[in-house]
Amino acid sequence: MSSATTPSGTSWHFEGWDPANLDTMSVQNLLQGAVGPRPVALASTINRHGEVNLSPFSFFNVFSANPPVLIFSPALRVRDGSSKHTLRNVMEIPEVVIQVVPFALVEQVSLASSEYADGVNEFQKVGLTAWPSLKVAPPRVAESPVQMECKVMEVKPLGTEGGAGNLVICEVVYFHVAREVLLPTGSIDPYAVDAVARLGGDWYTRSSMGLFEVEKPLRTCGIGVDALPKWLQEYGTLDGNRLARLGNQPSIPNIERCKEIFQEQFTAPTFEPSSPEGRSELVLRISLLLEQGQTEQALALAMMGKDG
Ligand SMILES: Cc1cc2nc3c(=O)[nH]c(=O)nc-3n(C[C@H](O)[C@H](O)[C@H](O)COP(=O)(O)O)c2cc1C
Repeated sequence: MSSATTPSGTSWHFEGWDPANLDTMSVQNLLQGAVGPRPVALASTINRHGEVNLSPFSFFNVFSANPPVLIFSPALRVRDGSSKHTLRNVMEIPEVVIQVVPFALVEQVSLASSEYADGVNEFQKVGLTAWPSLKVAPPRVAESPVQMECKVMEVKPLGTEGGAGNLVICEVVYFHVAREVLLPTGSIDPYAVDAVARLGGDWYTRSSMGLFEVEKPLRTCGIGVDALPKWLQEYGTLDGNRLARLGNQPSIPNIERCKEIFQEQFTAPTFEPSSPEGRSELVLRISLLLEQGQTEQALALAMMGKDG
């Protein structure tokens, strides 16, 4: 067993497994717990007789904007290696509508994952409304605020036994987005769309809860954590997130500016900034300034602590 202590002081004591020594269920449990929250695709498909199917898939994501490509993966059943209706349908009619699942629909969508017999229409089983699509044959789900009509470009099997995924690689040929979930910028509002995402076990989360923003890294690269004074990196009080926020600053203020900011922050300091006491004072103030979004000021104080 190996262990590590992170800059924030958390200790991890690792267990390890080679998947070759685990059964498929255990591997699946590890993967689903490790890779989450995962967005959920509600996929509607039809077979060659025109029978409609609706099922959720959380092995799903976006992979390209030009062309616009989504991939989801209906796996062969772990139990007996059999194919799901969705997989069979896209092999017969290579078209699918993928809808986003808002919290308001999550239990209907979960019900749609039941193994209904061949030919059973899950729209009817779970009480959702089928609307005709514009460019593809499978219908779309009227209750979902985001519906993406897709042509299947390729189906790539990843194995032949139970648990093997099948990548259904889909090109979006038409977007339907409810005006109510659009921001004036044309982006989708995470609060309004309230999309659910799946984790391990029976856990879900939703996009309207616990949201926070992280400013994108600068187009010109930030100075980096390694450009911060060593004392600050080693001090152990600023966690990795705060260090990285300082490291995302475009440049280090010059010494005159650092002194000026120091004087603004501490009008009559009773400490020497490089002393242990001074560093404690600096770190407290740096944390406060970072909370207030005054990152340049925080960086200037960090530089006043001096190494050595
Ligand atoms: C939220 C959710 C996500 C799911 N994700 C997947 C998935 O990514 N791949 C998969 O094979 N099954 C997944 N399932 C299970 C399928 O939905 C289920 O096997 C369903 O019966 C398949 O339906 P079909 O045979 O009508 O295609 C998921 C179920 C739920 C509730």
